[in-house]
Amino acid sequence: MWALYFYTLLSLFAAAAINFSVAPDRFMEYIPFGIFFVLVAVAQVIVASLTLFRPYRRLIGFYFGGNALVLILWFVSLKVGLPVGPFAGRPEVLNVADTLIIALEVLSLLLSGLLLLRFPAARPKKPRLMLLKTIPGTLLIAIVVFIGTQTGLHGLPFAVNMGAGGMPGMNMSFSEIPMSSLVEKPGNEPIKRFTLVAKETRIHGQTFWTYNGQIPGPELRVNQGDRVIITLINDLPVGTSIHWHGLRLPNAEDGVAGITQNAVPAGSSYTYNFVVKDPGTYWYHSHQETFRQVPLGLYGDLIVEPKNANSNTYAHDYALIEGDANESSRQSTSHFAARPGELIRLRLTSAFQEDMTGTPEQLVLSGAPYQVVALDGHDINGPQTLGPELLPIGTGQRYDLVFRMPRSGQVALFDLRPKTGSKFTLQTWATLGEGAQPSVPDKSHLPTFDLASYGVPTTDTVADRASYDVTTDLTITNQVGFRDGMYQFLHMFNGKTSPYTDPIIVKEGQYVKLRFINHTNEYHPIHLHGHVFSVLSKNGKRITGSPIHLDSILVGPGETWEGAFLADNPGLWMIHCHVLVHAFNGLSTMVDYEGVTTPYVIGTKDGNFP
Ligand code: C2O
Ligand code: CU
Ligand code: CU
Repeated sequence: MWALYFYTLLSLFAAAAINFSVAPDRFMEYIPFGIFFVLVAVAQVIVASLTLFRPYRRLIGFYFGGNALVLILWFVSLKVGLPVGPFAGRPEVLNVADTLIIALEVLSLLLSGLLLLRFPAARPKKPRLMLLKTIPGTLLIAIVVFIGTQTGLHGLPFAVNMGAGGMPGMNMSFSEIPMSSLVEKPGNEPIKRFTLVAKETRIHGQTFWTYNGQIPGPELRVNQGDRVIITLINDLPVGTSIHWHGLRLPNAEDGVAGITQNAVPAGSSYTYNFVVKDPGTYWYHSHQETFRQVPLGLYGDLIVEPKNANSNTYAHDYALIEGDANESSRQSTSHFAARPGELIRLRLTSAFQEDMTGTPEQLVLSGAPYQVVALDGHDINGPQTLGPELLPIGTGQRYDLVFRMPRSGQVALFDLRPKTGSKFTLQTWATLGEGAQPSVPDKSHLPTFDLASYGVPTTDTVADRASYDVTTDLTITNQVGFRDGMYQFLHMFNGKTSPYTDPIIVKEGQYVKLRFINHTNEYHPIHLHGHVFSVLSKNGKRITGSPIHLDSILVGPGETWEGAFLADNPGLWMIHCHVLVHAFNGLSTMVDYEGVTTPYVIGTKDGNFP
């Protein structure tokens, strides 16, 4: 009987603690909700304290009734939604803290019911002994309170505005640039139109999310200088968006949910419109719940052919993008036609997200000498001819290879990365031509391609500068902790996780140098939207070969890389690790041009989670 008292009160105090911890977020959602949660918590504390000192039957009755009322409210909000607040009429989605609050309130309801039935309770004869017996139960509730209050205090963001315009404490000597102004100006460029339907598709008995029913999505091939108009039709059950990875385009066309647009709701459509300035190999992918949507299949290649291209240069210009969904949906190697002696360009993109370490794919081209003519779509100056080497390609990165088909036999592209996350171990990405296939090379004898010393040096207006207007270090660390209402393997820039990292504030025309310092045992391909880095140095040593231009710099375990760019594209641009689980766990920040504002917010309010 004494234990009954004890646990009744304890569970009520515990529920109150978690109710307090979620109150700040509830206030942000809707002030009456915040007030309600505080009132419930205060009432729980008062009733439990009074009962502790003097267990009146009426008090326990009141306690039982109040608790039941609160639980009925919970039931309504979970089943049909409350009639008020920002999500009026929509059933609430349970998070960890809410679940624990409800569990404790149910427990306390049951216990107080029992208490009412057996009232008045006898006092224990040996309280000390009783106290000892309650240790395990108390510990259990203490753990529940710890998890509940931690997830409650570190909940999902409700509405975070990533704009750089009106941050408190900033000097407002600049004029505001609204997101809506950062669109492509009208012009008479040749127009290329595409429609991409995002939808659920069954392939080999498995459900994928695809563009136009295929994995990868259709290859979009355009010419430099084209105006590309793409309509996204969203037939998925959830919101989505499309980001044009690597392209320098107007910010409002960047496709990032919660920053440059709202996620396109299920059943709606959205049109992107931009002029492609730079030739090269790019790709597109969802940028809403990116961590979940990309591995399901929402990605494809976007190839921009150079304006003055001689169409006879290559007998074939092939593009291949591989990701988690390809392997399982295709279950076979790509084969490309090629005849002996033909000159081939092969554009390779990695969209893999399969494990936590971010270890790059290790591509090996076997069967012909080749050149790496471009990285991330940008030409290499004076690329040397290479034999089989391991080409490390981090997720998001691209390699363009050029080679001549041998007199006989195939050329094959292998991926020698040990697969840790995927059940599928397709070792061959592609074969070209006919005849005997080269055997899988022995990786232990192969050198690793190093972009820091490849090609021939030449001038680079960004890399050759003696000084930069903005210099920022981004130190990458990880540790476990509570975030987004969960216990996560946090990944941080300068000790903070998104969306609460410090943005890098720049002005148009500034030269910006970033240093990435990796204090983890993982690989981080750090990707900047809307700009191209000139790589400056790796581990403190300047690069010695061709200028290297990347939108994603692969920073290996313990490595330090420096990259610089000219801030010539006003907007709010994400910079994040392209290992999407790392970005999901916080490794994401912003390059914000001073004064740029956005009407969109990240968080549960509008359901934007880039
Ligand atoms: Cu390829 Cu922010 O993404
Ligand atoms: Cu991008
Ligand atoms: Cu990473």
